[in-house]
Amino acid sequence: METLFPAFDAAYWQGRYATGRDGWDAHRITPPLHAYFDQLDVAQQPRILIPGAGRAYEAEYLHQLGFRHVFVADLAPEPLQALAARVPDFPADHLLLADFFALPNAPLYDMIVEQTFFCALNPALRPAYAQNCAALLRPGGTLMGLLFDTDFGPVQEPPFGGTKEEYRQYFAPYFDFRHFETATNSLAPRQGRELFICLKKK
Ligand SMILES: C[S@@+](CC[C@H](N)C(=O)[O-])C[C@H]1O[C@@H](n2cnc3c(N)ncnc32)[C@H](O)[C@@H]1O
Repeated sequence: METLFPAFDAAYWQGRYATGRDGWDAHRITPPLHAYFDQLDVAQQPRILIPGAGRAYEAEYLHQLGFRHVFVADLAPEPLQALAARVPDFPADHLLLADFFALPNAPLYDMIVEQTFFCALNPALRPAYAQNCAALLRPGGTLMGLLFDTDFGPVQEPPFGGTKEEYRQYFAPYFDFRHFETATNSLAPRQGRELFICLKKK
């Protein structure tokens, strides 16, 4: 039977930021994403979306590398303001105070970056997450990042865990799997507990 959770809406997330219950925040880009971004070709200037971006250290790093079409989306204003304060020349119109599930799917993105957003969603929304990522990407576009492959126990609020086997079924209808394995360069507390994923939209 599906567990009923309260709405994890903008007020819920803004409240977590306001009360400092933001234990997911690594305060830096995580090593697997850092290493992946370092091998991208900046000359291609891909259109990149980071949904549920929070304070968006990934956007900051990509911006520093010279990527100029990076968009971040979040329901809560506080983390977007934090990014704007840290990176004053990050384009204001690339800060999307918006629900990931309501983002327009034109123009399409070349890449979507996942970093502790999937685990923040009501697990009932996981199939819709995979479907919406596919809807926002061009054919051949990339969904990459990290997914917790761990059990957080019977929790009543995010983060929600899961398994590699469970996740496969959500993405398989829309994506070819290039990489879907335990990350080898996670932050120490997350070592062995997260998958590095790189999926290509069919
Ligand atoms: C666990 S936090 C992760 C934040 C960031 N990715 C990080 O690693 O620090 C989840 C984030 O997703 C945002 N969020 C939750 N549901 C969302 C939705 N439907 N659309 C956009 N953002 C959402 C929250 O406001 C929060 O900033």
